[in-house]
Amino acid sequence: MSSPSKAHTYEPVIDKARHSVVQISIQGIQKRYGNFLALDDVFIDVQRGEFLTLLGPSGSGKTTLLMILAGFSTPTAGRLTWEGRDFTQRPAEKRNFGMVFQGYALFPHMSVAENVAFPLRIRGVPVASRSQRVRQMLETVGLSEHAHKKPHTLSGGQQQRVALARALVFEPEMLLLDEPFSALDKNLRSQLQDEMKRIHKETGTTFVFVTHDQSEALALSSRIAIFNQGRLAQLDTPERLYNHPHNRFIAEFLGRMNLLPLTHLRRSGQRVSGHFEDTILTATNLRHIPHNNLILGIRPEQLRITLNYKEATDESTNCLAVTLQERTYQGHSMDLTLATSKGHVLTTSIPNTHPVASATPGSPLWLYWPIDVGIIIEA
Ligand SMILES: Nc1ncnc2c1ncn2[C@@H]1O[C@H](COP(=O)(O)OP(=O)(O)OP(=O)(O)O)[C@@H](O)[C@H]1O
Ligand SMILES: [Mg+2]
Repeated sequence: MSSPSKAHTYEPVIDKARHSVVQISIQGIQKRYGNFLALDDVFIDVQRGEFLTLLGPSGSGKTTLLMILAGFSTPTAGRLTWEGRDFTQRPAEKRNFGMVFQGYALFPHMSVAENVAFPLRIRGVPVASRSQRVRQMLETVGLSEHAHKKPHTLSGGQQQRVALARALVFEPEMLLLDEPFSALDKNLRSQLQDEMKRIHKETGTTFVFVTHDQSEALALSSRIAIFNQGRLAQLDTPERLYNHPHNRFIAEFLGRMNLLPLTHLRRSGQRVSGHFEDTILTATNLRHIPHNNLILGIRPEQLRITLNYKEATDESTNCLAVTLQERTYQGHSMDLTLATSKGHVLTTSIPNTHPVASATPGSPLWLYWPIDVGIIIEA
């Protein structure tokens, strides 16, 4: 009787241990161009086998960090270690990393199979095992039937899969990807996202992935590092970043967030209450932010809305009078833009079957939400 339950509890322990091994340690990396700091004092421990995403607005330093990891750019301060040993000065060709960039960068005169075989050829892998590995890799990315085609005869998504196969065929220590899907349409993009997830799982390779697409980052990553103006703003799991953003930048950057500034704060245990316009709102301050001015953040999906005041009032909820400004039909749902009497704008989304879906602009409505769902953020 004891062995099945033992096996049951044992598995996650192995998994945890595998993920807790630091493969690359990024230690105080800085990149300066003249007086401009493209990267400023960045520390990240990349764990073996993880899917780490670098996310941030344009110009925040994502590509700069990836180029430093790849060895195409030298940091102006800080160092990189590989399993504890310094490799800051190791040349790119000695790092054994796979890379996939925004453009496909395939060799146009070579067939798909020759493109994928290229990294094996330059590493001197014998022909027989070379063709076997290429066959396997093309199968993994679903391109077996296209092996003999030239890249220009393939679709964008297929070309990007060739690039992925070429970057993975030599079993790199790590795969670096810089916005590999940005040229693709939405459907193709989400199809390739699913494949990336599967390939990551199958190969167990560490992926460091750059994007400025929030939903892509949330869907794919084991952890996300959010950059802002060359600095690491927060590094965490997608769930923790979404539910516990450390500051306003993260809260607004990742998903939509309604922000309600609170003044005249009163604290009682883990609860904090404050004035928002003519109302008192309450939230749970789990992080015990000591400041006097805080922002209460609420995701649109956490808000409830009603035409009936009685439905909205309860001891454990916050309640806010608003008027409907705009309804935007979204097919399966309706986005609502709402305003308080002093003009503060909030957004939420409701199913088309909701009683408020037929309300006309100008209608008075009540927003309400449980006090424990709001997020307290530094102002
Ligand atoms: N060779 C260079 N000389 C001077 N400034 C540079 C150089 N390379 C990058 N920068 C600057 O460093 C900053 C970070 O650039 P980087 O390419 O890392 O941004 P990014 O986060 O990848 O942005 P995007 O999402 O637009 O690709 C930018 O302001 C950029 O102009
Ligand atoms: Mg970039």
